[in-house]
Amino acid sequence: MAEHPAYPVGLRLTSRRVVVLGGGQVAQRRLPALIAAGADIILVSPEVTPSVEAMADAGEITWHQRPYEEGDLADAWYALIATGDTEANTRASAEAERNRVWCVRSDDADEATAWTPATGHSEGVTVAVLTTDARGRDPRHTAAIRDAVVEGLRDGTLVAPHHRTRTPGVALVGGGPGDPDLITVRGRRLLAEADVVIADRLGPRDLLAELPPHVEVIDAAKIPYGRYMAQEAINNALIEHAKQGKSVVRLKGGDPYVFGRGMEELQALAEVGIPCTVVPGISSSISVPSAAGIPVTHRGVAHEFTVVSGHVAPDDERSLVDWPSLARLTGTLVILMGVDKIGKIAETLVTHGKPADTPVALVQEGTTAAQRRVDATLATVAETVRTEDVKPPAVIVIGEVVKVGPTVGAPSK
Ligand SMILES: C[S@@+](CC[C@H](N)C(=O)[O-])C[C@H]1O[C@@H](n2cnc3c(N)ncnc32)[C@H](O)[C@@H]1O
Repeated sequence: MAEHPAYPVGLRLTSRRVVVLGGGQVAQRRLPALIAAGADIILVSPEVTPSVEAMADAGEITWHQRPYEEGDLADAWYALIATGDTEANTRASAEAERNRVWCVRSDDADEATAWTPATGHSEGVTVAVLTTDARGRDPRHTAAIRDAVVEGLRDGTLVAPHHRTRTPGVALVGGGPGDPDLITVRGRRLLAEADVVIADRLGPRDLLAELPPHVEVIDAAKIPYGRYMAQEAINNALIEHAKQGKSVVRLKGGDPYVFGRGMEELQALAEVGIPCTVVPGISSSISVPSAAGIPVTHRGVAHEFTVVSGHVAPDDERSLVDWPSLARLTGTLVILMGVDKIGKIAETLVTHGKPADTPVALVQEGTTAAQRRVDATLATVAETVRTEDVKPPAVIVIGEVVKVGPTVGAPSK
């Protein structure tokens, strides 16, 4: 019989019975997508992997702990046959054929009436790749095509403009600590779709160079603000461009809501009725220590970490930080914007009881090519900052976690 190509289709399985025979690795890989599709899943197998058992325990599937029996496919719309017993698989696919149940067979694609495509998802779209006929089946090739398409859509190198659902208004995108690979997939896609990008000094600036020439890139630090405060001028620039119907990305360092004034921008946009999407980002408060080999928590060493702004000194009346209480905590202190005031901060912590020999690490320009780590103690940190000429941006980590790990004192990059 001539081989015809498979006919691609999307099955809508919500509340429809799907029978899975076998509880091994194949079932384990396929079940999450069937669960996500809302199928009513019956799994028949004497044994299952621990992950499959967890799905049964969580009530996501119903597990009948026995081998396949004739009649198991009676109410099925779709079946996945993946037991380790070829004879049972053959009997089950014969039952599927008789009952006109589409079935996938893990052990014999030729005998199957359906094939599982290599699938991936990107923002509301499912990409499914099938080879044309059984003889040409090459799962690695289809998976590679799937990966190339999904990756391209995610990072914007494959441009497929949205005609109906282009994100309106402003996207407040957390760009991560600086390494262009550390922005989220969603942030990168929105950046690729933007008409205007208003960017901070911190964050993944290398990505700006990749934007097509028609994209207007505005340096937030250089927006003229005359009698306005800088933040008001940025808010106004966002509003102005969004009102012109442009797709605006406000690219911020780290996470927009960690000392990022993200909510102020969102509120300003909300006041004039401009929709705003917020895309969380990887905050420097965790990622920069991590990039320098410092875990902010470590079993038996620190059970908490506290992130504090050090932009005003402890004795400044504008400070909202309770430094005496922080001095009593036993966990890790992570200080952002604290390079200039670290002398005063260290002194205050020691005055209120933190040991003077508490380890301190300063990580400057973390995750970038210029990353460097300088180690000190609370007693020496002010002097070390001067002698080593540590400059912002830097994340300061105070606590025993600084000494955990194999690279203490040595730059990790
Ligand atoms: C205004 S705050 C913004 C924080 C940002 N929203 C976040 O979640 O990372 C700026 C401070 O973050 C820290 N910072 C941000 N990126 C950094 C990096 N790549 N290396 C070191 N410190 C960084 C520095 O302490 C800097 O002064």
